[in-house]
Amino acid sequence: MTYDRWRAVDDYIVDHLVGSDDALDAALAASVEAGLPPINVAPNQGKLLQFLARLVDARRVLEIGTLGGYSTIWLARGLADGGTVVTLEVDPAHAAVAEANFVRAGVTDQVDLRIGAALDTLPKLVGEGGAPFDLVFIDADKQSNAEYFGWSLRMTRPGSLIVVDNVVREGRLVDPADEGADVEGTRRLYERMANEPAVSATAVQTVGVKGYDGFAVALVTGDAA
Ligand code: SAH
Ligand code: DHB
Ligand code: MG
Repeated sequence: MTYDRWRAVDDYIVDHLVGSDDALDAALAASVEAGLPPINVAPNQGKLLQFLARLVDARRVLEIGTLGGYSTIWLARGLADGGTVVTLEVDPAHAAVAEANFVRAGVTDQVDLRIGAALDTLPKLVGEGGAPFDLVFIDADKQSNAEYFGWSLRMTRPGSLIVVDNVVREGRLVDPADEGADVEGTRRLYERMANEPAVSATAVQTVGVKGYDGFAVALVTGDAA
């Protein structure tokens, strides 16, 4: 029982519970047209991100890894009135596709797209001294997951959620022979989450149209060491 069945079940879930949406469909079509890799979250995952934003009454969301802005649009739609998603993208071509998608989706007022390597942009964001982020979605280059998590901790508050995509990678996570930079970065993330007293974390394995992977969720508790 593998990929075809996982995809069929995702289709069933999306048909029943998520439906389609012109702006989101157009965002994916434009991303394909522009040659972006199809590594956006699935629609059912996007809807979960939207719910998480709503549940934390998000005024400020940070996303690391924009691609064509598909997940960004879901997050923007979960914002409280007047809220903003700050989304970080290193590739200007990806960012250009995302900007056009934000216009079509009518979310330009809610999205603040910063082009540049996230490890350069994150210290600048700290320097800006904005209000804490209520929700962070980490979904960029996996080798830097632990560093992204560390920066996220500096810009969140007790009660914030930090969600990290792609933390299972077909189980490569637990293959000791696999020393890929992405998997190593994700292992460092788990170590960091495990040893950080200010968060309580879990992770969930997933199968579906995006294959076999998983996501982690860390709740910022603010507890001292
Ligand atoms: N969140 C998107 C998918 C992101 S794919 C969605 O679900 O729709 C990962 C993105 O991270 C790619 O666009 C890639 O260019 C970007 N990325 C890779 N390295 C990065 C870096 N160092 N800083 C910022 N973005 C980066
Ligand atoms: C990759 C990145 C992602 O964010 C994802 O969801 C799937 C794959 C990748 O870089 O291969
Ligand atoms: Mg991802």
